[in-house]
Amino acid sequence: MLAKKTVILISCIALSVGAFATSETTPEKAAASGSKAASADFRKDYHRPAEIPYPEDNQFSEAKANLGKMLFFDPRLSKENNISCGSCHNPSFSWEDAQATSVGTPMTRLGRHTPTILNLAWGEVYFWDGRAESMEEQALGPIGAGGEMAQDMEELLIELKEISYYTGAFEEAFPGEGLNRANIGKAIATYERTVVSSIAPFDRWVEGEGGAISDAAKRGFTLFNTKAKCSSCHEGWNFTDWGFHDVGIPGNDEGRYGVIKIDVLKHAFKTPGLRNIVERAPYMHDGSLTTLAQVVDHYDGGFVKRPSLSADIVPLGLSADEKADLVAFLETLSSNDTPVTYPKLPQ
Ligand code: HEC
Ligand code: HEC
Repeated sequence: MLAKKTVILISCIALSVGAFATSETTPEKAAASGSKAASADFRKDYHRPAEIPYPEDNQFSEAKANLGKMLFFDPRLSKENNISCGSCHNPSFSWEDAQATSVGTPMTRLGRHTPTILNLAWGEVYFWDGRAESMEEQALGPIGAGGEMAQDMEELLIELKEISYYTGAFEEAFPGEGLNRANIGKAIATYERTVVSSIAPFDRWVEGEGGAISDAAKRGFTLFNTKAKCSSCHEGWNFTDWGFHDVGIPGNDEGRYGVIKIDVLKHAFKTPGLRNIVERAPYMHDGSLTTLAQVVDHYDGGFVKRPSLSADIVPLGLSADEKADLVAFLETLSSNDTPVTYPKLPQ
């Protein structure tokens, strides 16, 4: 409630700044002064959190995270021993896989684009349609899913118990409980929560380093929070409200409506965070948009009009320069993350 109030207050400040700016003599000067004053205010809403949150019933331990990483990259979790979580959630593409929709085992094309696992520690529900309520539960989904890893859980438990590293590592991570279905989910979820995007040029600018991003990106950030309306859904440091909206991507996928039968949820998908967005092409739940310029064109007016379309999706009337500024801003969200080392898998 409090957060909502702050957002409303800040958009009011922005509106008055914008009105003042248009009375200046040249459009350049107007844009520059508008962007300086307005963005200084918006930056307040985008500070990074200091700590990763872990749930009560699955607190962090080094032992769990190390074991979870091993499982995440172990293709033996799939039926044919050929696909790991990391095959689709590939760290080289900021935990996606550069395909519109991925191929699972045995070579089945999936119906939706692979989302990133970046910054999910702050998430509330999981999957594009939010059908999983915890990361622990979510992690077990793809192992058994026919089109993804198609693995029988009982067989997997037998297979893993034959690898002495795993029996020892589960015992260390979950003393007295050891290797079981639930603890596979807990270990993987713990590792996933450690996957956080690091400092990007945008963060350095938010913390006061004026030259960390270009003037075009600064103008783009102001547009993002005002005329382009992006921040009505992509809010806060990870650029998501964790809500569900129909943004007018054509197609028959009913999204959140498949989970909760309320008409406004037709074609509604979870708002993705925008960190490392350049590395995460193609975009949207169906991977149908391949560049950020296309994404901006989509929001500018390329969307499908239908009854469930979000009220915040309206023709924006952006100029070519404004579109370029928005893209320049989105590019500042990429962090120079430490390359992920693949684990040497136990035999
Ligand atoms: C064959 C490719 C593939 C494999 C293998 C795979 N995933 Fe996924 N993952 C997907 C797709 C596609 C989705 C989105 C499905 C949907 O929303 O309906 C997804 C969704 C997710 C999400 C939800 C993200 C969000 O924003 O809500 C998480 C977390 C995740 N996967 C983790 C895992 C883990 C852990 C494994 C291994 C146990 C794994 N995935 C294996 C393709 C894959
Ligand atoms: C009404 C809420 C809403 C607004 C307004 C909005 N978005 Fe989105 N955004 C979403 C949702 C929901 C998705 C996923 C939609 C889908 O796949 O069908 C998304 C997807 C995206 C993606 C792709 C992310 C990925 O992982 O594939 C980008 C990039 C993006 N939006 C940028 C923007 C920009 C830039 C603006 C402003 C011009 C904007 N959004 C306005 C809700 C919104």
